[in-house]
Amino acid sequence: MTIAVLGATGMVGSRVIAESVARGHRVLALSRKPGDGDPNVTPVAVDVGDPEAVREALAGAAATGATATRATATGTAATGAAAVGAPAAGATPPRPADAVILSVRTFPADREFLVGATRTVLDAAARLGMRVLVVGGAGALRSPGDPDLLVADNRAYVPDEYRAVALAGTAQLRTCEAHADADWVYLSPPAELEPGERTGRYRRGTDTLLTASDDGRSWISAEDLAVAVVDEVENPGTERHITVVHRPST
Ligand SMILES: NC(=O)c1ccc[n+]([C@@H]2O[C@H](COP(=O)([O-])OP(=O)(O)OC[C@H]3O[C@@H](n4cnc5c(N)ncnc54)[C@H](OP(=O)(O)O)[C@@H]3O)[C@@H](O)[C@H]2O)c1
Repeated sequence: MTIAVLGATGMVGSRVIAESVARGHRVLALSRKPGDGDPNVTPVAVDVGDPEAVREALAGAAATGATATRATATGTAATGAAAVGAPAAGATPPRPADAVILSVRTFPADREFLVGATRTVLDAAARLGMRVLVVGGAGALRSPGDPDLLVADNRAYVPDEYRAVALAGTAQLRTCEAHADADWVYLSPPAELEPGERTGRYRRGTDTLLTASDDGRSWISAEDLAVAVVDEVENPGTERHITVVHRPST
């Protein structure tokens, strides 16, 4: 498959790229300042605030090694391998990605940015007939044992200083739900998500926060979250809101 990852340089996006490449997929690595290196990864400099650039990137216009340049929304110009532009003469015709992973965020959390980015990607993907996997937030999940209480409103999981982030993630899910024409799935990580070990194991649920069976914590490593992301892209499930949690070995 060809998998586009928007948020390529992030904690989650970089691990999704590593997992995708390890499984033999081609990757379009999208962010404002994507790196380069792996021949199976095509870096594409794109600002998600520029809907036309996002659409072009997802359509595969940049996957041809074109050297044309296109100004990004931040005013910088993308060049060389990290360019969005017309295909070079004799180049392979552009091909849309098969799926796009949206995994962006800002510091501090910016609800309008996140909603706008999500809308942009859903619109572009719907036009291109492409599936979208949104790596969102735990705040959009229901609380265990209290389905009417969103995690974003539950101080046991979300202290006051993280409430804005959690509410931004909830707004992002509502944006997806408003896009009936797009093919999307929203993956809520558990409460804690940090770099760690790739075990290849996880437990999957739908719209309620999960806790690990050994220590009761709601957590997963970013590496195992990436495993779950690529599993879902390769074998799409039927639920639109899913979550995962660490699964111990015994
Ligand atoms: N427990 C939880 O619920 C939990 C915990 C952690 C993360 N998350 C979620 O997981 C997702 C990914 O988070 P992360 O930790 O991987 O984020 P991160 O490490 O901060 O990475 C953010 C990515 O977004 C890109 N980006 C930012 N602004 C952009 C723009 N205008 N245009 C294009 N790309 C842009 C950045 O690349 P450039 O700077 O190069 O553009 C970077 O690749 C987010 O939705 C986050 O909320 C959830």
